[in-house]
Formats: sequence, C-alpha cells, structure tokens
Amino acid sequence: MMIDILLTQPVPAAIDARLQASYTVHRLYEAADPEAFLAAVGPRIRGVVTGGAKGLSNAIMDRLPALEIIAISGIGTDAVDLVHARQRGVHVTTTPGVLTDDVADMAMGLLIMTLRDLATGDRLVRAGRWGSVAQPLARKVSDIHLGIVGLGRVGHAIARRAQSFNMTVHYTDLHEQPTSGYRFVPELIGLARCSDVLVLAASADQGRAIVTEEVLQALGPDGYLINVARGKLVDEPALVAALANGTIAGAGLDVFADEPHVPEALFGMDNVVLQPHRASATEQTRLAMGEIVLKNLQACFSRAPLLGAVTI
Ligand code: 8YV
Repeated sequence: MMIDILLTQPVPAAIDARLQASYTVHRLYEAADPEAFLAAVGPRIRGVVTGGAKGLSNAIMDRLPALEIIAISGIGTDAVDLVHARQRGVHVTTTPGVLTDDVADMAMGLLIMTLRDLATGDRLVRAGRWGSVAQPLARKVSDIHLGIVGLGRVGHAIARRAQSFNMTVHYTDLHEQPTSGYRFVPELIGLARCSDVLVLAASADQGRAIVTEEVLQALGPDGYLINVARGKLVDEPALVAALANGTIAGAGLDVFADEPHVPEALFGMDNVVLQPHRASATEQTRLAMGEIVLKNLQACFSRAPLLGAVTI
C-alpha cells in the first residue's frame, strides 16, 4: 500500500513523476469540489506538499487526521499555523538555502527595472512610440544607499550583489549582526529615511504590516520600495496611495497582500513594476526545492532526521 499525500499546487513535472512513483498523489488544486474531495481522501492523507505562500489552513489541516508532515516547497512558514501543527504532532519542513540566489536576483532585477524604467521603455518600443515620445530620464542604480529589511540568507545575498553596484548597504533586523560589515539601523523608519531604495527580505511570521504610511513618508519622494518577501509586510492601501500621490517615487513588487489579487490602481502606474510572485520560479531552483521536499517526505515516513525542519 502506497502512502497517500496531498498536493495543494503543481510541482515541476520531474518532481511530480517521482512523487507518483512512491506515493498515491491527490491533487487538491484539481478538485472541482474541494469539500467532497477532502471528505473522500482526507482521512488517508499522511503528507501534504504545499508552497510557502499557499501553506495549509487549519481548516484543511483538521480534515487530515492522519497527517504527519507538511512539506513546504519554499522558505516561508507564515501560511501554516506552526503552533497548531505542533499541537497536532505534525512536522513542518521548508527548503532553505536553494532559493536564496533566485530571490536575491529577483530583488536586483526589480530594483534595476524600477529605477531604470525598463518596463515603460519596453512598452514604448513595442507600441511603436520610440522617436515620438520622450521618456523621462531614469534614476541611476549604482552608488545608491540600499536599506535591507531582514538580513537573513536572502538579505545577505542581496547585500553581496549590491556591493558590486557600489551601493552603500544598511539594514534592519530583530538583532544587529556586527560581523556582517553592514550598518545596522535599529528602527525601520530610520532605515527608510537613510535609504534611496528599501528592499523587503524579511520573513512575515508575525503577519503584521511593518511598512506603514509613516515608513513610506520617511522613504520620501525620491525613494523606492522593492518587495520580494511577503505582501502582508506592507500596508498595501497606504502603498498604493503613496505611489499615486508621489509620497514615494516607485515600487517593484513580486508579492501582494491577497495573491493573486493585485490592487487595480497599480496597473496604470508607470512607476511600478509588477511580478506574479516568481522570485524562486526558475527550473533549476524549483527542481532543487522539489528534491528537498522528496527527501523530507521519505525521511518522515521512514522516521529518519528531517532537512529544514521548522521548530518553534
Ligand atoms: C514560492 C515562497 O513562491 O519560499 C517561499 O516562501 O513564497 C516562494 O519561494 C513558493 O513557495 C512556491 O511554491
């Protein structure tokens, strides 16, 4: 008898094939009637494979009485109630390390696209308007002051990239990291004040918006916000207003408060670059993430040590 696992979202084909070779795979994302589907297969499910943003609601977790592991293909644990999982005796694992570079690359890509107006330029050329419309001059990327919110793996990888652009790196975090060599600013508002660009690379486990109207005001009319972390870290209505009225200069966003819904007001703004939460979405990285998920499932069901087990 193969162990039953639940997939909440698609995984790369090669990983899917390996899952199917070892487990009976049930696909929640394909179920026409998720309620009926969970009623039918829920009692047999021993493992869930999900994404960092999707996680697993308590409502679904509670439909899975035999659940042993939630294997997150990602690093965010904010969409899983870790206390509830622990009370249920359910392991939670993530895929740390393998997506760091991709997320940092996305941060730098969004930063350059936003400051250099690359998306606007692309639209202008495609519309055949080169020569008839003068695009305003952009903002220089090299030599800026970069404020990193969250100096974890991703924050460090962004900082390393920033140094090759001769940027001055400041950061804020729960604690100072004196050996990092970057300047620590204890308050986010202070970091916003001394940054040309604020990059969010923090985890969102507390689930509260830290980029408030006041922080956006401190970033100022020449400042930019880049978010590759979680949309819920930002007061989204305040951000939309700040972009519309010039409180800040622009934003590059890969994540949003209520994905896949994006505030429509952003669609018409040329000072904004939007991505559909794609920071780790490369073939190489998603395969590496999938490998860790496979290892964790196998370790869990054979009672071996887990990789990237989340403890609280
Ligand atoms: C992915 C993420 O989009 O790691 C995370 O927490 O949000 C992203 O890497 C997601 O996990 C893909 O399933």
